[in-house]
Amino acid sequence: MAPIISIRNLTKTYANGFQALKGIDLDIDKGEILALLGPNGAGKTTMISIVCGIANPSGGTVTVGGHDVVKEFRATRTMIGLVPQELTTDQFETVWNTVSFSRGLHGKKPDPAHIERVLRDLSLWDKKDNMLRQLSGGMKRRVLIAKALSHEPQILFLDEPTAGVDVTLRKDMWHVVERLRASGVTIILTTHYIEEAEEIADRVGVINGGKLLLVEEKNTLMAKLGRKQLILDLAEPLDAVPRSLDGNGLSLGPNGMTLIYDFDAEHEQSSIAVLLSRLATEGIHFKDLSTRQSSLEDIFVSLVGEGQ
Ligand SMILES: Nc1ncnc2c1ncn2[C@@H]1O[C@H](COP(=O)(O)OP(=O)(O)OP(=O)(O)O)[C@@H](O)[C@H]1O
Ligand SMILES: [Mg+2]
Repeated sequence: MAPIISIRNLTKTYANGFQALKGIDLDIDKGEILALLGPNGAGKTTMISIVCGIANPSGGTVTVGGHDVVKEFRATRTMIGLVPQELTTDQFETVWNTVSFSRGLHGKKPDPAHIERVLRDLSLWDKKDNMLRQLSGGMKRRVLIAKALSHEPQILFLDEPTAGVDVTLRKDMWHVVERLRASGVTIILTTHYIEEAEEIADRVGVINGGKLLLVEEKNTLMAKLGRKQLILDLAEPLDAVPRSLDGNGLSLGPNGMTLIYDFDAEHEQSSIAVLLSRLATEGIHFKDLSTRQSSLEDIFVSLVGEGQ
């Protein structure tokens, strides 16, 4: 199946000469949830703005549903819902009108039942007659999400949708995302809450300094780059790792009271069994054992750190 979004050698140099994107290649499949991670200033919003037709590329091409985002702007924009990072809404309009109007802007016929469902899903129904200036910051963010869903887009961009919002909205949003995924909507999400990406993404892309460092299935990424540790609380302290066990990913914790075994998640079972039997042979006893696994956040920090 052809990708729903295809980005080829995309570059962006702003008017002041700053190069924000340095040749991005990325295909996004219909129905997937892709999380784009990257530090502040990495180029995430710039890339999203170009795909949505809000900013012009300096070089390269982007197609959405097979249409060029520059030459066929109307066709591509209607397929897309965008929840922008910045709050920009008309303060004196009501929630209901803002969201309904947004649907009309994309050339869709009025559908009050759809607007009602969207507002209810985002816990905004009881605020539908409030003016936007009468809402809290988190509620305004919900309105942005409702606006983006008003015209039933096939692709949804969420640019930091949960920055500065409470746990309830995050849960609401994940719920909405799940429902949209089930109906075949493609979702591209940026977030600084990496556990959010770990929770909901199928694939993860890491951007830094205008370059895409990697894009990979989340589970593959975790298996490939994720490290695991087995931590043994020793019955008696050790001065050093015994010679016979040296060089096998073992190190001693504070005061020699813990023995830490680093291993990769792919070859774990057999090596742990071997280690435990060797410890028994050496007469090293332990009181307790636990394991620790690196999170997507650990992986992200090491990737971005290497790129600098
Ligand atoms: N209009 C502009 N003119 C000049 N430089 C810009 C402009 N907009 C963005 N930039 C620069 O481009 C780079 C990428 O910005 P962008 O907003 O795409 O980053 P981001 O990855 O979305 O970051 P954040 O996580 O902070 O939202 C930054 O260095 C930024 O200063
Ligand atoms: Mg941004």
